[in-house]
Amino acid sequence: MHSLEDLRAEAERAIKQAGSLKALRDAEVAYLGRSGKLTQILKTLKDLPEDKRRTMGAEANETRKLLELLAAERTASLKREEYEQKLKLERIDITRPGKRYHKGGLHPLTIIRRDIERIFGSMGFAVAEGPEVETEFYNFDALNIPADHPARDMWDTFWIKNPKRDPKAQRLLLRTHTSPVQVRYIQKHAPPFRIIAPGRVFRYEATDASHEIQFYQLEGLMVGRDISLANFKQVMQTFLGKLFGKEMKVRLRPSYFPFVEPGAEVDMSCVQCGGHGCSVCKHTGWVEIAGAGMVHPKVFQSAGLNPKDWQGFAFGFGIDRVAMMKYKIPDIRMFYQNDIRFLRQF
Ligand code: DAH
Repeated sequence: MHSLEDLRAEAERAIKQAGSLKALRDAEVAYLGRSGKLTQILKTLKDLPEDKRRTMGAEANETRKLLELLAAERTASLKREEYEQKLKLERIDITRPGKRYHKGGLHPLTIIRRDIERIFGSMGFAVAEGPEVETEFYNFDALNIPADHPARDMWDTFWIKNPKRDPKAQRLLLRTHTSPVQVRYIQKHAPPFRIIAPGRVFRYEATDASHEIQFYQLEGLMVGRDISLANFKQVMQTFLGKLFGKEMKVRLRPSYFPFVEPGAEVDMSCVQCGGHGCSVCKHTGWVEIAGAGMVHPKVFQSAGLNPKDWQGFAFGFGIDRVAMMKYKIPDIRMFYQNDIRFLRQF
């Protein structure tokens, strides 16, 4: 009797103090298992005299039931504890600020190109495109620059090899300017029209802070019955005013490009000093921005349009240069180095 009571107290303690489901299982095995201590006692009952056996047997069974009940309760509470612990560990604080990650952004040249397209769009200009790998005809001949013309030296050209050495094949090159898009457009569309043609161009040149072997240009073309350089000046002034967000002046200086007559270099008032004179404009108050002129009759002819019926202006400028002025970027090569510290600023 004594040992059964001791055993029960001992087992109760072991069950109540079990700190984990594993420890509880061990305690259950130690007391209630097949060769556990209580089972051991039950096995000795058969050696006891009849009356003792009955009372002890009843008590031992009661003890077993009690211990099983205690073990079941302890199991339940341990499971609850473990679950609560898990909930605590896995708790998500939805009020914590999230992890910041970097979104991609637009390249400054993309931003400015879109700005330019939007502004010209508001003035009724459509956007046209042409191929970057161009034929000699569109890049030069159709623009009144035949093979033996000294003006070809104005554009250092990447020629593309003709691998089949087919003497009849058109010579191919990387376009040196966006002007060939003029010819392609005139061939396919009936005037009047006004277009811009932004795109990448290539020059076989040494690079420095203001020269790259590839950069972006924007070509403009407006053709009608009586389109003049006065119209051009107005368009350019309006465009620059909207792009730079302030009043801009434009002046034309006579110049030579084979595909226009007359031809001009276009200056705008210096963005830096507003025309008063500074180091950027070399104290002239003016900065060169574009080439322009009245479309040469030979260009109309090579595109299949009668120059007696139509006239118009054309212009071209470097998008990179405009971006450099707008964002005050000192070196054109920065656009193409993909330095994230540079790109993140836009
Ligand atoms: N295509 C010329 C260049 O790349 C720029 C240019 C000058 C375009 C005069 C024009 C123009 O349309 O009329 O240097």
